[in-house]
Amino acid sequence: MTRRMTIADFQKMKDNGHPIAMVTVYDYSSALIAEQAGVPVLLVGDSLGMVMHGHDTTLPVQLEDMIFHAKMVSRGSRKALVVVDLPFLSYATEQDAVIAARRVMQEGGGQALKLEGGREIAPIVKRLTEMGVPVMGHLGLTPQSQHQIGLRAQAKDIEAARKLIEDAKAIEAAGAFGIVLEVVPAELAGLIAREVNIPIIGIGAGPQCDGQVQVWHDVLGLFEGKSPRHAHRFAEIGAQMVEALSHYNKQVSEGSFPTKAQSVSMKFEIFADIEAGQKAH
Ligand code: KIV
Repeated sequence: MTRRMTIADFQKMKDNGHPIAMVTVYDYSSALIAEQAGVPVLLVGDSLGMVMHGHDTTLPVQLEDMIFHAKMVSRGSRKALVVVDLPFLSYATEQDAVIAARRVMQEGGGQALKLEGGREIAPIVKRLTEMGVPVMGHLGLTPQSQHQIGLRAQAKDIEAARKLIEDAKAIEAAGAFGIVLEVVPAELAGLIAREVNIPIIGIGAGPQCDGQVQVWHDVLGLFEGKSPRHAHRFAEIGAQMVEALSHYNKQVSEGSFPTKAQSVSMKFEIFADIEAGQKAH
């Protein structure tokens, strides 16, 4: 595709049974790389609070942070559909949501927003979509509510599973163009993907979803140690970075870098003149 992916293209992928890949991206150079790899949907996730800013949770993330990172990703992306998270409590009322959406989309860029929550936020999703803002929902393990629900798999009993199905239907009815489903049983996610028409993008929600989203640092293996169970490290780039930087550090400290190859020189007569002048002083 030569133009940017739209939400109509996104829906078509589900309709044609074509699984959708989505990855979080937080800056310009990473967006260029994700685009080169052909990933069709980029998420400026509020997980940036943890993996980019070093917080323990996503809760401290501010609207300004999302705008700052959305700007960088927008500059690096040409073809992908860029979705930006609205941060914790920035969409607590319809009025707040409209103000936050306007700021993120006008100042940060991106083509769509993602909001966490079920039927309780359906009126907010409806208001935004009626105003022309494409909205993606986020259900299941919603990290912005982690102090209420914990960081564990959701919807494992009948009541919670039924509620999740109803929430997905409510978010779809409110006008959302897709839903992220995080850490819920795979069978249930598959059922929801069949029950709603819009694409269901899973993270820790099994292979029956219409697509998958993963966090940049997990996919690339940037941090040492283990990634969450629902993540897969497709490379160990972090280890390669440490190795490259160790070589750099070693070569600078032992004087073997830089060499002639990384240097510029001047004409011998000019340098000789300058050197002679210095000696005369
Ligand atoms: O912020 C984020 O990275 C997310 C994904 C985990 C879906 O919302």
